[in-house]
Amino acid sequence: MVVLKILVLISGGGSNLEALCEACEQENYPARIVAVGADVHAPGLTHATERNIPTFVVSPSRFSSRDAWGDALLEHIRMYQPDLVVSAGFMRIIPPHVVEQLSPHLINTHPSLLPAFPGAHAVRDALAAKVAQSGVTVHVIDAGVDTGPVLRQQAVLVRPGDTEATLHERIKAVERPLLTSTVQAIALGTLTLPTQHS
Ligand code: GRF
Repeated sequence: MVVLKILVLISGGGSNLEALCEACEQENYPARIVAVGADVHAPGLTHATERNIPTFVVSPSRFSSRDAWGDALLEHIRMYQPDLVVSAGFMRIIPPHVVEQLSPHLINTHPSLLPAFPGAHAVRDALAAKVAQSGVTVHVIDAGVDTGPVLRQQAVLVRPGDTEATLHERIKAVERPLLTSTVQAIALGTLTLPTQHS
């Protein structure tokens, strides 16, 4: 079996990372996590450390420019030679020159049905727009913000009385299996990453 080497980037609690870790522990799952990176000392890093998966933190505040931060991030990523980089709750825009180096082997999970509600407040924005449904999108990262080619999407209905927290929790419950199945499909070659930026 061909095993895809993945590197996961996070900023927060890392429930998507945890789902990927659990999937990768299954013998017949065709991927393994080679490292987990973060922009802050994210609590979710413990999902990696408790499994002896290497971690690194590259904090933008330690660099004089976004490009310099991007260079350091890329250097760390390259050390592990991943086949695929998965941004799973990584709350930073990756600089275009880094995206160019990794594309199309760089994917992101986003809590809305893109192109609706890009950006850092997707769940809040969906509620404010009073849509009947939102959802989750796994897409290839391109030079824009949440604009890259869509790989997989799944809808989640908005319920009366939903708050940002309740809707986001239901989205994340759908997001975790969608992300792990998307990575699986990429590893198996049943889903091909587009080679051209859209
Ligand atoms: C996910 O919903 C992701 O799409 C969004 O932030 C959330 C991260 O959740 N950008 P977690 O850290 O994986 O629990």
